[in-house]
Amino acid sequence: MHYMNAVLTPTSTTPTPPSPIRRTHAPGPVSRWWGLPLLSEMKRDYLGFVTRLQRTHGDISYMRLGNEHAWDLMSPDLAREALVTHADALIRWERGIEVFAQVFGQSVLVTEGATWQRQRRMLMAAFTPKQVAGYAELMTTAAQDAFDTLVPDNQPHTMVTMDALWSRVAMDVILRTLFSRSAQQQSLVAIEATQTLSATAYREMFRLFTLPDWLPLPGKAAKRKALRSLRHLIQGHITERQAAIAAQPDQQSRQDLLGRLLALRDEATGTALSSQEVFDQCMVSFQAGHETSATALLWWSRLMAEHPAAAQRARDEVRAVVGNGTPGPQHMAQLPWLTATLKEAMRLYPPVAAIMSRRTTAPLVLDGWHIPKGAMLRITPWVLHHDERWFAQAHAFRPERFLDGAPPIPKGAWMPFGAGPRVCLGQHFAMVEMTLLSAMLLQRFTLELPEGAAPCEPELHVTLRPKQAVVLRLTRVDRANPIAH
Ligand code: HEM
Repeated sequence: MHYMNAVLTPTSTTPTPPSPIRRTHAPGPVSRWWGLPLLSEMKRDYLGFVTRLQRTHGDISYMRLGNEHAWDLMSPDLAREALVTHADALIRWERGIEVFAQVFGQSVLVTEGATWQRQRRMLMAAFTPKQVAGYAELMTTAAQDAFDTLVPDNQPHTMVTMDALWSRVAMDVILRTLFSRSAQQQSLVAIEATQTLSATAYREMFRLFTLPDWLPLPGKAAKRKALRSLRHLIQGHITERQAAIAAQPDQQSRQDLLGRLLALRDEATGTALSSQEVFDQCMVSFQAGHETSATALLWWSRLMAEHPAAAQRARDEVRAVVGNGTPGPQHMAQLPWLTATLKEAMRLYPPVAAIMSRRTTAPLVLDGWHIPKGAMLRITPWVLHHDERWFAQAHAFRPERFLDGAPPIPKGAWMPFGAGPRVCLGQHFAMVEMTLLSAMLLQRFTLELPEGAAPCEPELHVTLRPKQAVVLRLTRVDRANPIAH
């Protein structure tokens, strides 16, 4: 194995003789000890690892990890070829699914084949632009509640830990859109539970199997408690609704996400989602739907504080389009600069920096390499998003890349929501939510970094979070005259 890889790396001075191996193994790192050193390098710094991998071995590379034959695809074309063109020959990596299933049950995030197709088809109906527009008011009410009490009345500004703010607002948004209920006192427990489960899931992904949760091992008690409290929260809302429907059958037509999930009928068979499916989809919408948006908004607010001119331009745009009123989905198309700042924030810090690995269920040919059935494919938006070939000055914050008239970005170079049939189901929901919430924040406050604030380092859990808390000084904007501020 050692020798083979030495011959196959592009840095090797030995001419590579044509051999059957060349057709099945692309260049890649030397994999000793069943790949354990590679695995621990990944665990230590996954994003650094894949970045170095691309630098050394190019856009497609191969490595052996225990029994796994893993391939990394690092160009937009290769990523799309796998996720879009060959979607039918891929399933998600079983170990990742096993870890997620413990939290998300058999929901659309986890299932495969006919079950996934049915769930996805049914759920799409609840996430169309028209349906999402119907949630906009719930989103802006949540933001208004949070922002209007943020700075005490007798003070012009205050220091705010943005992590906590966005987690609370995003959670409130998802609870209101799911259940027509605000987060209130549940939020702290639920935020903590979500973060515990994310950190646990990320750790478990690097293990070969999960030991039973009842074992008295470090972290197991916290995981059990977190799962219990989230299940209790979600089940409580569903039971309450079912009781309300039993008392008053027209309650079922309530226009929140739960109302829609209960009313969904499969076009092909006319069947509804089972009770367990309703629970699992609520759980996935709750988790996938608030942690990702909160993370994206967190990075965005940090970048806005670092780039006050870009923030002021966005504020001016919101002011020109919405005035002091409440933004809505009808304004989205008129806020190109604000949208560009959000897209650029997700480029620099994709909340899902490494999408779930895939397993090939049939042999494929990618870039001339024969990839056998059973291989593992990895796609890392982080690497695509920081590639100078698609984004000049890739490490700089330049929202203008996303404006009309800018040089076109190759398809697949920007994929914070994934690509292909398993692209994020909540993509449109997230863009509406983030645009409305960010517009409302800018209408009310300027954002500044405190003196001597350290640079922000990203850290990969399941989502890409800043290593240190993001604390900003929020100063109230004079809403009668915001430009003069
Ligand atoms: C900024 C916010 C968000 C980001 C960056 C994001 C990112 C992603 C990504 C990258 C995937 C695909 C993973 C893969 O290919 O394996 C995904 C899937 C998914 N997302 Fe999101 N997401 C966001 C918000 C949301 C919201 C708000 C919801 C729901 C309310 C949601 C629900 C889902 C679901 C259900 C899936 C699984 C779809 C399937 O497998 O068919 N996401 N998301």
